Amino acid sequence: METLFVGNNIVHLTEVDSTNSYAKALLKDVKLPEGTVISTDNQTKGKGQRGNIWATEPAANITCSVILYPKFLSASDHFFLSKVISLAVHATLAELLDSGNYDIKIKWPNDILVNNKKICGTLIENAFRHEKLQESIIGIGLNVNQEDFGELSDKATSLKLLCNKGFDKAVVLKRLLKHIEVQYLQLKQAKEASIHENYLKHLLLFGKTSTFKDLKNDGEFKGKIVDVLPNGLLIIETSKKERRKFDMKEIGFGY
Ligand code: BTN
Repeated sequence: METLFVGNNIVHLTEVDSTNSYAKALLKDVKLPEGTVISTDNQTKGKGQRGNIWATEPAANITCSVILYPKFLSASDHFFLSKVISLAVHATLAELLDSGNYDIKIKWPNDILVNNKKICGTLIENAFRHEKLQESIIGIGLNVNQEDFGELSDKATSLKLLCNKGFDKAVVLKRLLKHIEVQYLQLKQAKEASIHENYLKHLLLFGKTSTFKDLKNDGEFKGKIVDVLPNGLLIIETSKKERRKFDMKEIGFGY
């Protein structure tokens, strides 16, 4: 492993309900080294964002959780962790795919899309203490060799579907862990400004006038994404030049 600490300790399980839940339970009993990875071939009760389930074909994809202790981050800045993980997945895919032929984007808050289809989802579960982040479980589901997404086939994709060839999951994981470490160390070295700039550079619909759904008021409006706050709120400037803040469950956008 070419990393200093991310992935130096890998706990691989043949089957588990959820790697995030397993990591959380394990952390109650033992202090695991920072960068420990819990991975599995078959996740039977995967958790997605907003209480959704994350279903994935056994053995086909990367299904793992990385344990980090970002105690240097204030609770109000917690979204920087999400930004660096999105950038790490983005960089991994840019390395594996010929980026001239593929459009790799971060969909706020932290989905990764290639050619407008989702290839990776992230579920970050944080524990806070005294207004600081204490412990973070970074759950990542990256579609590698799955070919059939059933009813989601117009919304989801994998490396194999994109390239018409299978990938060695161990190689993809190794690259992903390397990028997670690089990005995380940038954050630790207080490179927030460049991380933010990079995140916005790859953000889907950034600065583009688009139609959004206000899920609280059940209405559509036109606007453009102009920023993402350190706490993760999305800022949209409406056509009337009004700046509105949205949380995850409050906004929907087609892509
Ligand atoms: C989403 O896009 O809704 C987030 C999906 C996150 C899925 C991963 S798979 C590994 C880890 N364990 C879980 O239970 N969920 C995350």
